[in-house]
Amino acid sequence: MVTRINPSILAADFANLEREFGRIGTADLAHVDVMDNHFVPNLTLGLPIVERLLQVSPIPLDLHLMIDDPDRWAPAYAEAGAFSVTFHAEAAADAVGLARRLRSIGARAGLALKPGTPVEPYLDLLVEFDQVLVMTVEPGFGGQSFMPATMPKLTLLAERVRASGLDVWLQVDGGITEDTIVQAAQAGANTFVAGSSVFNGDPAERINALRAAAEAHSHTH
Ligand code: DX5
Ligand code: ZN
Repeated sequence: MVTRINPSILAADFANLEREFGRIGTADLAHVDVMDNHFVPNLTLGLPIVERLLQVSPIPLDLHLMIDDPDRWAPAYAEAGAFSVTFHAEAAADAVGLARRLRSIGARAGLALKPGTPVEPYLDLLVEFDQVLVMTVEPGFGGQSFMPATMPKLTLLAERVRASGLDVWLQVDGGITEDTIVQAAQAGANTFVAGSSVFNGDPAERINALRAAAEAHSHTH
């Protein structure tokens, strides 16, 4: 099984983003957190900055939209060239319709679930999505502690993905370290977002260590 490590630039130096992208070239995707101060109590960056990041990044961009009304705002990120656009189930009026629109534009469509949001309503809809993001912290801020209580959702998702034969990537985001990545990999995640644990050290070395820890414990089926 393929393991993907996606550094979150939320923990990077916002005054030197092009230089920071140069430090994560061995990662799979760069995770970009868009926050609107409404869906979450924090504000980061939006489309004009993402458009420039797409020009300078050596790896594809994985957009995580923590915003209200993604039905209105998300397609522009796909049109700009994001590899994947993940929106929150709690915020979308028509998650399936939005996912179809993102795919029609050429992006991978992702569905994100806050820690308290159950996964069951979405298990029969996996064919509509390219990835599901199980948040392992409350969205809004980096540097929080991993919530093990979210792991049963991954187990359910992994079982359903395996049974269906679909190639839906299972992503975790929040508090991922060399320790917690093991639990997430064992539960069935294959795509790991890490902010502070990558940028608080030498990013290339941290990416290698996270990948090795995940691969040692990933599902083998
Ligand atoms: C939090 C963001 C995460 C954040 C993770 O709402 O979605 O992507 O950057 O940061 P760490 O890895 O520090 O928990
Ligand atoms: Zn994120």
